[in-house]
Amino acid sequence: MNEIDFKNKLKGLLFIPAAMQIAKEINVEVYIVGGFVRDMVLGRKKNEIDFLVIGNGLEFASKYSIALGISKIDIFKNFGTAHFRYNDFNLEIVGARKESYSRNSRKPDVTVGSFEEDIERRDFTINTLAVSLNEETFGCLIDTYSGLQDIHDRIIRTPIDPMLTFDDDPLRIMRAYRFASQLDFKIHESINDAANILRERLKIVSRERVIDEFLKILSSPAPSVGIKLLFYSGVLEVIFPEIANLSGVDQRQDYHHKDVFLHTCQVVDNIAGISNNVWLRFAALVHDIAKPQTKKFIEGTGWTFHGHEELGARMMKNIFRKLKLPLTKLEYVEKLIRLHLRPIALAKEEVTDSAIRRLIVSAGEDLEDLITLCRADITSKNMEKVSKYLDNYERVMKKVWEVEEKDKLRVFQSPVRGEEIMKLCNLKPSKKVGEIKSAIEDAILDGKIGNNYEEAYQYLISIKDSFLD
Ligand code: CTP
Repeated sequence: MNEIDFKNKLKGLLFIPAAMQIAKEINVEVYIVGGFVRDMVLGRKKNEIDFLVIGNGLEFASKYSIALGISKIDIFKNFGTAHFRYNDFNLEIVGARKESYSRNSRKPDVTVGSFEEDIERRDFTINTLAVSLNEETFGCLIDTYSGLQDIHDRIIRTPIDPMLTFDDDPLRIMRAYRFASQLDFKIHESINDAANILRERLKIVSRERVIDEFLKILSSPAPSVGIKLLFYSGVLEVIFPEIANLSGVDQRQDYHHKDVFLHTCQVVDNIAGISNNVWLRFAALVHDIAKPQTKKFIEGTGWTFHGHEELGARMMKNIFRKLKLPLTKLEYVEKLIRLHLRPIALAKEEVTDSAIRRLIVSAGEDLEDLITLCRADITSKNMEKVSKYLDNYERVMKKVWEVEEKDKLRVFQSPVRGEEIMKLCNLKPSKKVGEIKSAIEDAILDGKIGNNYEEAYQYLISIKDSFLD
């Protein structure tokens, strides 16, 4: 294992000398602990730094912030923690504590502890590494639980019995799988066992924290690593049962359908390979979510999932509410689910411009994302099939570009606006105005008239009487 020169690395950080100075002045020991040390070893950049103070952490924090010329500092007396920003860095200061948690909440009962007591109640061995900022031992690594070896072996383990670690704070179950997914580390078997036993305790954790970890899993290089770990430990069933339910294959006569859960994992990884947009990844995760409810065996045809795209889209509102997902993303995800089968239906040679126009208008500015999802949805192992399907999408996109070139449809709305319809037809704001506007839009989409004001106006004059009778 390569020796890491922490002394040199820390010297490059402008705020370190002041921390050492204040520690000496008020006679406390100070260490940098947790994620920052872990990420230094891994060569990852991190701008959040945790200082562990053996002694009065709050006194250290306030003197330290003054020494750095910082006036804005957040102090959480009950937790014995403080936080302030210094340039691009977030500095978190905590006094050493032994934590005991009450069974029904994540709020710890904090009492002052020693260095050892603090370190043993941390989540994973890779997060227990500490580097000294004390004069005599500056830059020395304290590695009580072989965290360095675990980073080297790429494994997530808890410093003490995981049953205790997770019982203290059930969110750590999510964190274990999140770190495994982000770093592509293995999980020690004892963690899976404890997670399985204690998974219901995740219910005492706020939905926001759980989903925050889940979205970090989705943002990782290959999200399927974390999603499968969640599934096989039984945790997914508790936090997102609709995705866990996608698992399983039915066989009747010679027909079986592929395991939708494994297919979904593959689609999410495919998207992750080309896009960092976490909501596109989320849409991939849920695109087949209604397959279990719509699954039907039809004699002679086999398995069908008729209407799963519409039902899936309609399930989203509840899922977003339940999981406390940002409602601003709801429409985007609904749209991608609802439309995910549409492009393939348009790959046929004889498809009309009108059908292509409708796709352009329905998908709007998300058309590229939709096609990305459709391409990622091809998970066949048969290369011939894959290339045929990809060609199909290529063809659809070509048609889209041709029609777009002609019509400039992407931000489509009727060139004749509601006000003008009301004036010309002598109408008050009403359903009828909407109907007339839709008729004009349909005529454009069907190619009866061009997408311009003059033709739309003439068309309005020609149809208005039929609406007013
Ligand atoms: N920690 C813990 N249990 C938690 C959260 C945090 O024991 N539920 C400890 C770990 O030692 C962790 C440190 O507190 O390293 C800082 O926590 P945090 O900033 O949340 O995580 P990091 O490990 O720094 O990693 P990341 O920023 O990726 O979340």
